[in-house]
Amino acid sequence: MLEKLNQIQGAALEALDSVADEAALEAWRVTHLGRSSALMEVFSGLGGLSREQRPAVGQKANQVKNALEAALAERSGTLRAASLKRSLEGERLDVTLPGRRIPMGRLHPDSQTMRELYRIFGEMGFQIFRSHEVESDEYNYQLLNFPVGHPARDMQDTYFVEAEGRGDNPIVLRTHTSPGQIHAMRHFVAGNPENPPPVRIVLPGVCYRYEQITNRHETQFEQIEGLAVGPGITFGDLKGTLADFARRMFGQETRTRFRASYFPFTEPSAEFDVECFLCAGKGCTVCKGSGWLEIGGCGMVHPVVLQNGGYDPQRYTGFAFGLGPQRMTMLRHRIEDIRYFYQNDLRFLEQF
Ligand code: PHE
Repeated sequence: MLEKLNQIQGAALEALDSVADEAALEAWRVTHLGRSSALMEVFSGLGGLSREQRPAVGQKANQVKNALEAALAERSGTLRAASLKRSLEGERLDVTLPGRRIPMGRLHPDSQTMRELYRIFGEMGFQIFRSHEVESDEYNYQLLNFPVGHPARDMQDTYFVEAEGRGDNPIVLRTHTSPGQIHAMRHFVAGNPENPPPVRIVLPGVCYRYEQITNRHETQFEQIEGLAVGPGITFGDLKGTLADFARRMFGQETRTRFRASYFPFTEPSAEFDVECFLCAGKGCTVCKGSGWLEIGGCGMVHPVVLQNGGYDPQRYTGFAFGLGPQRMTMLRHRIEDIRYFYQNDLRFLEQF
């Protein structure tokens, strides 16, 4: 019997030598250590042996089992190491190769300028107030002191969304961000009708005008409106605010200039110019030799507009301004055609 166990061990170890992969190893385990293996038969036959034989055979059978299990574990280890080595060699990688670049987008020049404006006005104490791109005639014009048929409406050629059956109050695409002044004032008044709070806001967004498209005019363009309302606000506050804005936006040395103008919703009204930051006022092609660049319109909020917003013009005054962010971007980067902004041409966009 002991001799038989030696043979079982010898045969099993010999068979193990030719096991080359994990599947063959599993088959070997079933054959030589599994329930119906010769070795297990010896174990189940122990009960039939004589009392003298049983301990020696049992001991020997256990030794054989341990030896086979140890050999199995060792073989399994070497097989796993070999397969790892094979896969490392097969998928060899060159760690000195340069990495693959992850394509990264960037902000549109419009967005870059808008974010800079938000930052500057935010630092100066203005909140951002968003309002609608689709408006009624009432908000876009009437409440801003452009009555029906007022000639100043011709300054802004209008896109009508819906006119049928709406009489004097058609739905329009906003031609400027100024209607947001009324929405904002009414919003603040609704929160506290007896004592409406002071207003310090900027209203950014897209506006639409039915214009002949040229290198300087698009039918869709950005504006950023400013509005400050409170007791005792003066034209001096308006000038100081815009002068400070210009220094923050275009550099500490930037000078500003105000020229009398007209808007129905401000009185007095002015055009706001900054000294040309490209030639420092000497005169160049961008400022057409004048040394000054037109940035926007502004003025003191007309009492009728304050009233329409719900602020008592006896107790409150205010100023407003409307700036053209795309004009600032064009001047700054010497972009000669506003049409580039919406053409999505990567050769243009990748420059910013
Ligand atoms: N809404 C005017 C425009 O688009 C600009 C403006 C805003 C003027 C605020 C004065 C005050 O032409």
